[in-house]
Amino acid sequence: MHCSSPKMVCETKIVADEHDAIPGTKKDSMMVSSSHMWGPSSASTALNPVEDRDMKKDVVFIREFERGDHVEVRRIFNEGITERIPNTVFRGLRQQPKTQFLYALLTLMCFVVTKSFALTCCAPFILMGARYYYSRKVILGYLDCALHTDMADIEAYYMKPTGSCFWVAMLEGRVVGIVAAQGREEDNTVELRRMSVDARYRGKGIAKSLGRRVLEFAVRNNYAAVVLGTTAVKMAAHKLYESLGFRRTARSDDYRLPGMSRTPLERLFFQIRHSRYRLQLREE
Ligand SMILES: CC(C)(COP(=O)(O)OP(=O)(O)OC[C@H]1O[C@@H](n2cnc3c(N)ncnc32)[C@H](O)[C@@H]1OP(=O)(O)O)[C@@H](O)C(=O)NCCC(=O)NCCS
Repeated sequence: MHCSSPKMVCETKIVADEHDAIPGTKKDSMMVSSSHMWGPSSASTALNPVEDRDMKKDVVFIREFERGDHVEVRRIFNEGITERIPNTVFRGLRQQPKTQFLYALLTLMCFVVTKSFALTCCAPFILMGARYYYSRKVILGYLDCALHTDMADIEAYYMKPTGSCFWVAMLEGRVVGIVAAQGREEDNTVELRRMSVDARYRGKGIAKSLGRRVLEFAVRNNYAAVVLGTTAVKMAAHKLYESLGFRRTARSDDYRLPGMSRTPLERLFFQIRHSRYRLQLREE
């Protein structure tokens, strides 16, 4: 067994689940070594049962979703989405020069109309407050939408259909990370979705191993490419996908999240950047 990242050596070891040893199952129908495409993969290392017993405490297992994981999976997903609210309000504004200009103009207009320094000094706080209100409303609306569609019934949505799957990363008997793969027959690609790691366990290579699991799944199932879309504001998600070999194929600064109403006020106080990534596995 070896670790994919030097920092994991003394912290956390990541190993494959038992399902890798069972050829012929729906999800692992082909055993194809593809590590050269995205670097060495500790997630595909075979597990020695004796070693397994001895190391269970500090080992991260990547395994397929089971019904009992539901509550923890929803918690990790929930936390991963809600932490985007402050990120979108403050960091997100740095990515929106037009909005910065508009807010400066509104503050100036406030002074011209009221001639009051006190009111003008309050204007940026009022604008940021409105930004927080609308970001919270839209992001919680998006979360609610997800929790009532695929995340409401992971078994039906990801585990039953051929070409889709959902994995969890387990540490000390608890779920610490999640990721889904959704096959798209129309263009022979698989979409990587719902990637999230419990905030207490980040920076240990868990997301990278979950990502590799999706790539291995795509190769085994003969998909031509893995694609994904992200509205993550922090660099971590973008660096993660780039480090796995993904390339950005499109970017939009005015993305419409599911559940948005697009009223003028919502458009003034909520904008989100959306990036699409693709990793080509083979030529079509
Ligand atoms: C993005 C996220 C999944 C990363 O999880 P993680 O387990 O901490 O990531 P890893 O430790 O596997 O790091 C993988 C790569 O990501 C990048 N990365 C991770 N954390 C980073 C950070 N804080 N800053 C910059 N890059 C970072 C690095 O390139 C790293 O590779 P390296 O260590 O070889 O340089 C995690 O921060 C998260 O769950 N965020 C909230 C939900 C989210 O935004 N999901 C993505 C939605 S598309």
